[in-house]
Amino acid sequence: MSKVTFFRGQQLPLEMHKVRIIQKLTLLPIEERKEAMAEAGYNTFLLENKDVFLDMLTDSGVNAMSQDQQAAMLMADDAYAGSATYTRLHDKLVEIFDMEYFLPAHQGRAAENIISKVMVREGTLVPMNYHFTTTLAHITVNGGEVVELVIPEGLEVTSDHPFKGNLDVDALRKLIDERGAEALSYVRMEAGTNLIGGQPFSVQNLREVSAVCREHGIPLVLDASLLADNLYFNKVREESCRDKSIREITKEIADLSDVLYFSARKLGFGRGGGICIRDEELYKKMRGYVPMFEGFLTYGGMSVREMEAITVGLDETMDEDMINQGPQFIEYMVTELDKRNIPVITPAGGLGAHVDAMRFVDHIPQTEYPAAALAAALYVCSGVRGMERGTMSEARDAEGVEPLADMELVRLAMPRRVFTLSQVNYVIDRLDWLYQNRQLIGGLEWEEEPEILRFFYGRLKPKNDWLEQLVEKFREDFGDSL
Ligand code: F0G
Repeated sequence: MSKVTFFRGQQLPLEMHKVRIIQKLTLLPIEERKEAMAEAGYNTFLLENKDVFLDMLTDSGVNAMSQDQQAAMLMADDAYAGSATYTRLHDKLVEIFDMEYFLPAHQGRAAENIISKVMVREGTLVPMNYHFTTTLAHITVNGGEVVELVIPEGLEVTSDHPFKGNLDVDALRKLIDERGAEALSYVRMEAGTNLIGGQPFSVQNLREVSAVCREHGIPLVLDASLLADNLYFNKVREESCRDKSIREITKEIADLSDVLYFSARKLGFGRGGGICIRDEELYKKMRGYVPMFEGFLTYGGMSVREMEAITVGLDETMDEDMINQGPQFIEYMVTELDKRNIPVITPAGGLGAHVDAMRFVDHIPQTEYPAAALAAALYVCSGVRGMERGTMSEARDAEGVEPLADMELVRLAMPRRVFTLSQVNYVIDRLDWLYQNRQLIGGLEWEEEPEILRFFYGRLKPKNDWLEQLVEKFREDFGDSL
């Protein structure tokens, strides 16, 4: 894609694949979208997919597969124990990451469950560049404490730092000096750091983190769920990686880590997960939990068909032309939004575009959930489903006090190889219109607030009739258009 220059100098991502299977979409009229949003309690998680035009909720388990993946799924070897399918997956992981042992799991958080049970010691710390929601939950439940050590730029919405997912190595050294190496269960690095906008770390940063860990005998655990995007950024943004192949960069990243786990709903364009381990003793400890929580050691809760797809998907991840579509579409979207002054996380990361609701609707206080309100408004004016990542996603403390989130974001995930550029242009257009009419967007309040994971199931309602006004303005500006 990046290797093609257009005659008139346009900066357009060019897909190196063609689409041969399609799914028809529907776009409801705005009045029906408003109804659907009300039925979903103004929570985009509760929308039915049939009412959604472009589903940008997540890139998890919804990426398009290649014809080779689909073909491999037909050749799966169905056996409870010792299937040839498992051996193929195992051998591919060993080939790519060069770690001796592999344990399968049904998805990423299941791998986190096993790792945390075995590696988190009660009362210890787990420093990391930044947590993911399920990571934090598993570490905490096992008596550990997450310490966020992302570099300061990581939490700045706008920046030109190419690797905002880097870990602050001086802060890590300081923590070890103060608390002693034995107070740390392990250090975790997350590739394509999800919650701060899909931001990558550099290989150089990982090298430094790994050196500190090895000096003090602390294991380094890599969450490779979003590794494909991270690899792309290493290749295009990091001088020392420019002349290396994706396979070589991957090997180097794996060499620096002791344990590597992934959600194959992201890495490998399939559905599943697993853990790669170097140390035999650690492997044996973790192995005991696989039959207990996942399934037998040669499938770990995955279907054999998905395992075949992941094996091929992992191989394809080593091909730059197969992994650059996501980051390049996201970069296009972020650049176009930025040109229209729409506040968005910069530089563009992986995973998706992240709109900054704190600035987009700066008239809505955080206690009225600006990111959730913006996500609801966007769905109503476009049929596009994004995800709230702000105060609504936080949990109240024991006293019932609600923490206000560091960032109020609407995440617009870019499932890989799924949308066309004109669909992305449509999202940009509707966000542009919404930004021009942002004063019409109002706040939300709870109607039904669950105690646990409220952002998944909770139902809200608008503080006043702002959605009616938004629909009215849409009709004024767009006439009969959908
Ligand atoms: N680690 C990271 C970095 C993730 O992004 C996810 C999932 C997980 C672990 C857990 O994996 O879903 O297979 O159990 N992220 C999804 C998302 C849910 O929408 O961003 P899982």
